[in-house]
Amino acid sequence: MKERIQELISQIQNLEVNSAEELENLRIKYLSKKGEISALFGEFRNVAPEDKKEIGVCINQLKEQALLKFQQLKEQFDAAKELAEREDLTRTPDPTALGTRHPLSLVKEEIIDIFSRIGFTVEEGPEVEDDRHVFGMLNFAPEHPARDMQDTFFVEKQEGVQSPDDILLRTHTSSVQTRVMTTQQPPIRVLCPGRVYRNEAISARAHCFFHQVEGLYIDKNVSFADLRQTLLYFAKEMFGADTKIRLRPSYFPFTEPSAEMDISCNICGGKGCGFCKQTGWVEILGCGMVDPNVLESCGIDSKQYTGYAFGMGVERITNLKYRVKDLRLFSENDVRFLQQFESC
Ligand code: PHE
Repeated sequence: MKERIQELISQIQNLEVNSAEELENLRIKYLSKKGEISALFGEFRNVAPEDKKEIGVCINQLKEQALLKFQQLKEQFDAAKELAEREDLTRTPDPTALGTRHPLSLVKEEIIDIFSRIGFTVEEGPEVEDDRHVFGMLNFAPEHPARDMQDTFFVEKQEGVQSPDDILLRTHTSSVQTRVMTTQQPPIRVLCPGRVYRNEAISARAHCFFHQVEGLYIDKNVSFADLRQTLLYFAKEMFGADTKIRLRPSYFPFTEPSAEMDISCNICGGKGCGFCKQTGWVEILGCGMVDPNVLESCGIDSKQYTGYAFGMGVERITNLKYRVKDLRLFSENDVRFLQQFESC
């Protein structure tokens, strides 16, 4: 019997198994109730009393070693199985995370695209400007209250007096228009997109910086009718073919006559809703015929040429297009907000 036990010990030590199924069959063969080791325990009662102690120790050793060996083999198979699952080559690879375009960039590009189809090109200029280009050449009189219309961040300001050399953060991109008019002769047909700054308390409806796209067209015989038709084309392209526009008289120092343009509310279709305060109209831009004083101060002959200008806030248009109610969302970089523009 001792030899039998030794034989089983060496068999089990040298077991080689290729599959979990084979392992289970071997476990049944050796360790189940009807297996070889149980059989040995069965035979134990026939062992001569003087041999019982020695044989008993051997059988117990056999059983312990067998249990250990099967445990090891099982762990080996479990690990291999887990690895195989992890290395599944048919699995879809992790999707590449796509970046998103900022909604203001999307809308700015769309505005530029619409106007570029009718011949406008893009001009850019500095955000840190002098008073001359932001106000002076645009017909803001030195002490004109209109200067207060756009609360300004000054970078360098002369004490007490207003100077054309004061340095400030531009309050509108009309400053780029003055730069274009002083360096180019008509015909001029430009769009000036960019960031502008105004000293406003930050709230859902106002911010100390925002974005504009302004337009300028100067040539012989440019009329208010041209301005109106161009803006109607823009409104229809931007908000849909059913969009209507209306112009209301307004005031800007650099245009005469001046107007503000409303579009029919694109949320209720003009019937009246909370968004348009039941009026059916929402304001989207300022515009007008370039004041002859502006043309002259930029070196353009106002007897020969006329022109129109318009300016709109990109945030405003984006609010209308995407219903973003709080302006602050645009600059907080909250990915939950930005990710919503992923497919655009
Ligand atoms: N510059 C004006 C503003 O910032 C907008 C405007 C541009 C109005 C051109 C008329 C003509 O509010």
